[in-house]
Amino acid sequence: MEAQRELAIITGASSGIGFELAKLCAQDGYDLVVAADDPAIDQAAEEFRRLGATVTTVQTDLATLEGVDELYRACGGRRVAALLANAGHGLGKAFLDQDFDAVRHVVDTNITGTLYLIHKVGRDMRTANAGRILITGSIAGFMPGAFQAVYNGTKAFIDSFSFALRNELKDTEITVTCLMPGATETEFFERADLMDTKVGVDKKDDPAVVAKDGYEAMKAGEADVVSGWKNKLQTSVATVTPNEMLAEQHRKMAEPGSAKNAKKAS
Ligand SMILES: NC(=O)c1ccc[n+]([C@@H]2O[C@H](COP(=O)([O-])OP(=O)(O)OC[C@H]3O[C@@H](n4cnc5c(N)ncnc54)[C@H](OP(=O)(O)O)[C@@H]3O)[C@@H](O)[C@H]2O)c1
Repeated sequence: MEAQRELAIITGASSGIGFELAKLCAQDGYDLVVAADDPAIDQAAEEFRRLGATVTTVQTDLATLEGVDELYRACGGRRVAALLANAGHGLGKAFLDQDFDAVRHVVDTNITGTLYLIHKVGRDMRTANAGRILITGSIAGFMPGAFQAVYNGTKAFIDSFSFALRNELKDTEITVTCLMPGATETEFFERADLMDTKVGVDKKDDPAVVAKDGYEAMKAGEADVVSGWKNKLQTSVATVTPNEMLAEQHRKMAEPGSAKNAKKAS
């Protein structure tokens, strides 16, 4: 009799980095439970099935506890071998110009929903004393993000949380890995209304490469991976740069209208 394949949950698998992570899981022999908030998740699932995985899709808002409960139920009590908590989104413009419901949705998706899912699945992993957790943080967590202030704050939280949880689990067989991408060519910037900014129009990293870096780090049980040498350099410099200076640098990349500076520079 064929052994049952292991199960992986991938959130935010309908596009970008999560889509590539889910493909890597499928290629590596996992069955998948994948989630996103719109019907594109069903199209994405077709691609994962072509790679040999049995796929369950969940279309739900992971900013809500109910949405996370729905995703957890979709696993049908099967042991989760890998949790790739990747769903997240940004929000451009000045904080005081942002709609507060939209602000809250960033926090609820990137932090609250992510933590709730990790809490539920993590407890099961602790009972089984086995599991791999990959959390998509960001190098944005190293920089106060003028004109994406809330988003960068959520990623600072997630980067920090990931290392702390890893430490709490160091005497178990559960590993926690933080993937910290730099600017990556996905739907992120359009969704965050950042297409009139320098970072929105600049050349970015390939999501397939970023996902591969994260996936390999997760499989190796590493603590973190900053994808790409330029981003590695940027994060090293950020750790010794005053926050006020970092915020000013971020303004140059993310201020509305800064896209024209990118064109002038190139
Ligand atoms: N792109 C970058 O430059 C970059 C850099 C560093 C870190 N990251 C992080 O990488 C992760 C993936 O983003 P991406 O760049 O691949 O962007 P993306 O192409 O926009 O993908 C985001 C994914 O998350 C899902 N998602 C977002 N909010 C959700 C919610 N409330 N409920 C359910 N699903 C939700 C989206 O599905 P729906 O469309 O259905 O909502 C989509 O599948 C995010 O955590 C992001 O913060 C991105």
